[in-house]
Amino acid sequence: MNLIFATNNNHKLKEIKLALPTYNVNGLRESGIIEDIPETGASLEENARIKARFIYEKYGKNCFADDTGLEVEFLNGAPGVYSARYAGPQCDFKDNNEKLLKELLNSKQRDARFRTVICLIIDREEFLFEGVCAGEILTQYQGMEGFGYDPLFSPKGYSLSFAQMSMEAKNEISHRGLAVQKLIAYLKNQA
Ligand code: IMP
Repeated sequence: MNLIFATNNNHKLKEIKLALPTYNVNGLRESGIIEDIPETGASLEENARIKARFIYEKYGKNCFADDTGLEVEFLNGAPGVYSARYAGPQCDFKDNNEKLLKELLNSKQRDARFRTVICLIIDREEFLFEGVCAGEILTQYQGMEGFGYDPLFSPKGYSLSFAQMSMEAKNEISHRGLAVQKLIAYLKNQA
């Protein structure tokens, strides 16, 4: 089955292709779609829906979109749906990580979780899948792999950060990996 994954993040695309080897998954650029899809929702669910609907309504192709947020206990769930723009509209991963470290400076409460919501649209029907990975925010950077907040996030039960894990190991326990496992289970049931 062909599926468009509504993302331009090569890292995520690689992760998903690895997790879904029997599907022909293509990102936006690979599908010749160059528009910026607005992410104006107030929740991860809304944003995932907005992105998937944009592709389905405009191109009529089966697709899925994800939205992920880092929810930090001490910050009452922030940055959450604003994780990509935490340090401002033009910020990069480094700016976001620096801001996070600053906000948690001297805080002993460092519990956090990544949450991913995937919206799948197949033949006009919509489905949502959620994946959650609990862990904590480290006090300093660890590791070079991954992207985003990976060097500062250590999943529960591990002493490593996500940035010290292989993509395969991260996929097995990560928010996106778990949401994708639910997506795969659903797709397999349909086959
Ligand atoms: P998105 O909705 O998947 O684009 O995620 C929003 C933001 O959350 C990204 O810009 C990253 O900063 C962060 N993020 C998403 N997934 C991950 C991950 O697996 N590891 C670390 N950071 C992530």
